[in-house]
Amino acid sequence: MSRAIAILASVLAVTMFSTWAAAQSERGNRQAGAIIYEQNCVRCHGLAASGKGPDSQSLSVPPANFQLDRSRSKTDTEMMRVIMQGVPGSPMQGWNGRLTEQQMWDVLRYIRSLYPFHPSAREGPAK
Ligand code: HEC
Repeated sequence: MSRAIAILASVLAVTMFSTWAAAQSERGNRQAGAIIYEQNCVRCHGLAASGKGPDSQSLSVPPANFQLDRSRSKTDTEMMRVIMQGVPGSPMQGWNGRLTEQQMWDVLRYIRSLYPFHPSAREGPAK
């Protein structure tokens, strides 16, 4: 009996987890995001999203490399928080007021289309 409950619980957990993973980045339009990315993000994050844009050399903090697990394991909510509010003390400024919320979802969708969310890469607490 308790074994059946354990099986049920793990099936439930897997279902919930995959629903959560699938829900990542479904908001936003990839094509619109590509244009926004090119206009606003490429100079730091680079065309290949590896953090090696033309301006990246001169920055005090290197731009995030979206190819790495460190970024890929972040949820959309975590990524959106940075896009909206920026990272204090770093060249990454918040885009609130400069882009609409829809445009921020578009650009996140574009980034995720290059390097999809990868939850299993997460190790320890989010940074
Ligand atoms: C002036 C350079 C610059 C520009 C322009 C810029 N970023 Fe950043 N971005 C950074 C830096 C530097 C970091 C890393 C901050 C840190 O690690 O403390 C960063 C980090 C991020 C992160 C966090 C990633 C992670 O794994 O924590 C996201 C998301 C992000 N940027 C999205 C964007 C988007 C979207 C745009 C365009 C709308 C953009 N950035 C434009 C410099 C920039």
